[in-house]
Amino acid sequence: MIQISASILACDLSRLAEEIKRVEPFIDMVHLDVMDGVFVPNITFGLPLLEAVRRCTNLPVDAHLMIIDADKYVERFVKAGASIVTVHYEACTHLHRTIYKIKENGAKAFVALNPHTPVEVLVDILQDIDGVLIMTVNPGFSGQKFIESSVKKIARMKRMIVENNLDVKIMVDGGVNEETVEKVVCAGAEILVMGYGIFRSDARVFRKKLEEIKCF
Ligand code: DX5
Ligand code: ZN
Repeated sequence: MIQISASILACDLSRLAEEIKRVEPFIDMVHLDVMDGVFVPNITFGLPLLEAVRRCTNLPVDAHLMIIDADKYVERFVKAGASIVTVHYEACTHLHRTIYKIKENGAKAFVALNPHTPVEVLVDILQDIDGVLIMTVNPGFSGQKFIESSVKKIARMKRMIVENNLDVKIMVDGGVNEETVEKVVCAGAEILVMGYGIFRSDARVFRKKLEEIKCF
């Protein structure tokens, strides 16, 4: 069963609660893009907004930390209600330390890779994480164009997981929509992070299309 995590970066934030309610029947999770203006060229939101989202829905929240010094904050994100905390490979010097901190606090630990980072860099940490987040755009903004070379990368990641007999989920983020969904799902993606594709399109139609995908 493929899951959808809705990125609220693409919703009308002046009506956050209504926006979440509107798409709730068609999604499985809410995705919170935390940007620090240092690791990525944008500044978004942090812990207070996570707490607000927690008051709007009972769905799980996944926090995508596009920040340096994630180590300092992961515990607070878990305590504020994130079920999944994702940190970037490119922003963590001691990745195992950060991962253990997320897991010790009771959340699932995912590692994100920028589009240019090969999946092979995760070979010595794959057995310790719950999931990988393959960025299919350069992180920073909603509504960007899907990077086509990501499809092969998702398939390579899937192969690595299967060959090592691991239970690691593949999440993808960026430019996933009606046009790109089939190729990412058939390459091995299991959780789709979606901004424009859910909040600025017909979420019901998308969900239906997703359920009809058959990979050969
Ligand atoms: C990009 C963010 C994404 C973004 C996805 O840096 O990590 O979560 O909001 O938005 P779409 O689906 O519109 O590309
Ligand atoms: Zn994201």
